[in-house]
Amino acid sequence: MESSELHKIIQGIPKAELHLHIEGSFEPELMFKIAERNNIVLTYDSIESLKKAYQFNNLQEFLDIYYAGAQVLIHEQDFFDLTWAYLTKVHSQNVVHVEIFFDPQTHTDRGISFDVMFNGIYKALEKAKNELNISYKLIMSYLRHLSEEAAFETLEASLPFKHLIDGVGLDSSEMGNPPSKFEKVFKASAKNGYKLVAHAGEEGPAEYIWEALDLLKVVRIDHGNRCLYDESLVQRLVKEKIALTLCPTSNVALKVIQKMEEHPVAQMLEKGILVTINSDDPAYFGGYMNENYYETAKALNLNIDQLMQLAINGFEASWLSKEAKEKRIIEVKDYFNSLST
Ligand code: HPA
Ligand code: ZN
Repeated sequence: MESSELHKIIQGIPKAELHLHIEGSFEPELMFKIAERNNIVLTYDSIESLKKAYQFNNLQEFLDIYYAGAQVLIHEQDFFDLTWAYLTKVHSQNVVHVEIFFDPQTHTDRGISFDVMFNGIYKALEKAKNELNISYKLIMSYLRHLSEEAAFETLEASLPFKHLIDGVGLDSSEMGNPPSKFEKVFKASAKNGYKLVAHAGEEGPAEYIWEALDLLKVVRIDHGNRCLYDESLVQRLVKEKIALTLCPTSNVALKVIQKMEEHPVAQMLEKGILVTINSDDPAYFGGYMNENYYETAKALNLNIDQLMQLAINGFEASWLSKEAKEKRIIEVKDYFNSLST
């Protein structure tokens, strides 16, 4: 397929994004603007020099820059602007449903109150629901390089807002911070009505995916690339229809794979795993949803059926109601049918 044709097809697909860190959608231009109005001097003297720093050899090198960038977010308006910028961007790419992560500890640990951060994010999501017709779910992520006790404090701080938060996740430095470290706080989170997901098998071993399933009892795995090293794990994912939220451009940027041609998404589809395409931290990895679909489709030569399956999976694996899922899946099928007529 020609590049321009592929771009056009991908643009038109109604899409769901299930793996997006709102702090990872912080574009350098907006970061400089917010830093300036908050009288914060960034370590980089220009947008260009900041962008040049976006060269990573692994997850940790990225996380160091990602946490530093988030430091300029102080006021509710800052969190609102960050979230609104992401939502308008994905709206332009025909993303109609998002399930986004936020990292409370990145902000509360520097003295920003939970409600300031939360209200900014929440108000932007509500505005997008009303004005852009984007539906959403909100996932609070615990930072796994910090203690389980600190995660418990975050859970506690979230309780006044728990009717507005759909689930909890687990992100940050994976190696050496296995899911088992957070077994108790995930159990307590579930008791409070939160759905559960966790990053596992991005850099960490297949064993961490087993732990996320068996100890944390997650309903979805974020990344999960490493499952392919364990055939019995693959069988379990297929049998229990456990979705993986894959992030192709992130995997290349963080050297989880050396080049896109090595991406396992096609192999995973072939095995019948419920895999989805997502952007993770688009401002840092150079691609929102369309770019992730496009780069993957191009490198792996995905066909129309595979693209349709990926788009359907995005809704299938989402936390939308059964009716809303069915409606969106019909829209995806209608769209692909309209291409061939
Ligand atoms: N992995 C772990 N933690 C993260 C990521 C990721 O891909 N993005 C933002 N925090
Ligand atoms: Zn992630």
